[in-house]
Amino acid sequence: MQPCRYSRPGIITMKKKPVVIAIDGTSASGKSTNSKRVAAALDYTYVDTGAMYRTLAWYCIQQKVDVDDPKAIAEVLKHWKTKLVCANKAVYLTVDGYHPATEIRTSATSAVVPKVAAVPAVRAWMKKRQRECVEFGDLVMEGRDIGSAIFPETEFKFYLDASLDERSRRREADGVIENLAERDRRDTQRATSPLMISLGATVINNSKMTSEETTALLLKEIRAKLDKQKSNS
Ligand code: DC
Repeated sequence: MQPCRYSRPGIITMKKKPVVIAIDGTSASGKSTNSKRVAAALDYTYVDTGAMYRTLAWYCIQQKVDVDDPKAIAEVLKHWKTKLVCANKAVYLTVDGYHPATEIRTSATSAVVPKVAAVPAVRAWMKKRQRECVEFGDLVMEGRDIGSAIFPETEFKFYLDASLDERSRRREADGVIENLAERDRRDTQRATSPLMISLGATVINNSKMTSEETTALLLKEIRAKLDKQKSNS
């Protein structure tokens, strides 16, 4: 545990409850770009929860775990040696002290990660770790179930989306070939913690917006809520 950032020795202060900004949404809706920009603008810590699922998928491949066997995947959770690390205001998961930053982005890992993410024991493990991230202070956390399952209590919930055509165009521009319709189907039809618009979430369909406009809108909404919270406290 890191020392509390909000208290100074000899001074009794109320520990400020960390703010959690939940940014969920479909693939290629601009979650990562916008979450990173919002975190930087507010000086909050950025958490990419997809990267955590990818780390488990990568590790299962390394360990030659049968990824079609949910029990075998759940077994990994009992033994793997992980740590949540915060560096440069971003949180990531290490395994045996190693951060597989590039390996988790390969097509081999991308192919396996939906199988791993569908296992209920994995989602429970991830929830615990993701909630622990508040030890790193105020957060911008991006994912699929942050507003609905991980931090349902937060007042800052956003759901980013864009048309399938526009999202496909964005992926192509990045040189990535991906069946987004299939990805949407898997994300929304998963039995445990499917992708959904959580209650109270602000939906931003950015099909006709630039990413800068999306960031500006997110920041405007967040700052208005933060100001309102301040004036109510
Ligand atoms: O955002 P991403 O493409 O890096 O996510 C990788 C995979 O993990 C994708 O299949 C969706 C899944 N995921 C999830 O189920 N829940 C999250 N909170 C984040 C990602």
